[in-house]
Amino acid sequence: MTFVVTDNCIQCKYMDCVAVCPVDCFHEGPNFLVIDPVACIDCTLCEPECPASAIFKDGDLPDEHQEYLAINARLAQEWPVVTEKKPPLPDADQWDGRAHKRALLLVEDSVRWTK
Ligand code: SF4
Ligand code: F3S
Repeated sequence: MTFVVTDNCIQCKYMDCVAVCPVDCFHEGPNFLVIDPVACIDCTLCEPECPASAIFKDGDLPDEHQEYLAINARLAQEWPVVTEKKPPLPDADQWDGRAHKRALLLVEDSVRWTK
């Protein structure tokens, strides 16, 4: 089991999740965070902390977010660990709740995830 960051984190990145994780399993990209499924101990602490309700237990992932299981596992191997909460992205409140942000996911600055 693991927890998974999904679509609504994109362009928001509120980062409240980072502050509560006891095992530092969040990894940071330009406009999204992911959870390392190997490091996650399923403590459940991060899920209620996300203002964008973007974190799910893998078994509770909505069908439309299933691809985020693989996205979290893959990008956790590429992005650096983040251990301290930073400010959200500047327009986070405007992006919160918008559907289908997946096409905006950046793997690195100005490089979109195309897989
Ligand atoms: Fe970290 Fe716990 Fe969330 Fe897993 S469930 S990412 S261990 S806070
Ligand atoms: Fe993203 Fe929510 Fe964390 S928006 S950065 S998963 S608090």
